Amino acid sequence: MAVASLGYLVIESTDLAAWRKFAGEQLGFMVKDAPGGALWLRTDDRPFRFLVVRGTKDGFVSAGWELADEAAFEACLAALQVGGHAVTRADAATAQGRCAHGLATLKDPAGNVVELFHGRFRDYAQFASPQGVSGFVTGDLGLGHVVLPAPNLAETETFYKTFLGFADTDEMRLQMSPNPADPLLVIKFMHCANPRHHSLALIPMPVTAGAVHAMVEARTLNDVGFAYDRCIAAGSRIASTIGRHSNDEMVSFYVTTPGGFDMEFGCMGLQPDWSTWVPTRSLVSSIWGHQWAPPPSA
Ligand SMILES: [Fe+2]
Repeated sequence: MAVASLGYLVIESTDLAAWRKFAGEQLGFMVKDAPGGALWLRTDDRPFRFLVVRGTKDGFVSAGWELADEAAFEACLAALQVGGHAVTRADAATAQGRCAHGLATLKDPAGNVVELFHGRFRDYAQFASPQGVSGFVTGDLGLGHVVLPAPNLAETETFYKTFLGFADTDEMRLQMSPNPADPLLVIKFMHCANPRHHSLALIPMPVTAGAVHAMVEARTLNDVGFAYDRCIAAGSRIASTIGRHSNDEMVSFYVTTPGGFDMEFGCMGLQPDWSTWVPTRSLVSSIWGHQWAPPPSA
């Protein structure tokens, strides 16, 4: 019943043209008009990894978690129901809209919308970045990772471990204020059934945009550097300069998306062997770089 990977992310937008420009011209994703007036943002051989739907606000909507097959999907839904979690099975048309054979939705204990699916369609078209990105590290590792708000951190962490098969990778404890007596910010990093260092991280605070950030991993450092230059040239808000994270060793920068959350664009992320991995505890988020911009409201 363990989640296999992060399959897709759903984003709501009042301005699809902004996403078309941002994703295509800055990130180097393939952008395609989708049924219902949505946008498909493609980073590999799946029809989309990001689905941008037209809405009344801008922000993150939901994460789509892939189960290996129908049996794993049904076992996961059964466990959730036994555990008292209300799960809604999507009808065929809704599942089709996610390019999946089976789909169900529920909320995690923090209120984040969780989509579970199996049988993702493939169209076998090749990924060809409009900006020459050599490719993204996806496949069995999923699209990347997502960082979600969870003010009730312990309860939400337990939910993902108990019902969706996640396990600990790292716990980051960060001193966010100049006063050492202030409490540390605790962030939980978890993996699912693939070698990506973390597919999900939880941060104990509410987030207006619905997610803190999503991460895509390009194949090369040059892909990251060229994307960084494109984002700067386009005048996008660089939320963080290029740096290397301590826990997953990702070399990345962060750019604020039209959805208000950030996109981490990185490379060289760690892929641990879970059979020998001992979860780490990190007291710094980066070993170099990653200078963060002041909050947008400052
Ligand atoms: Fe990240």
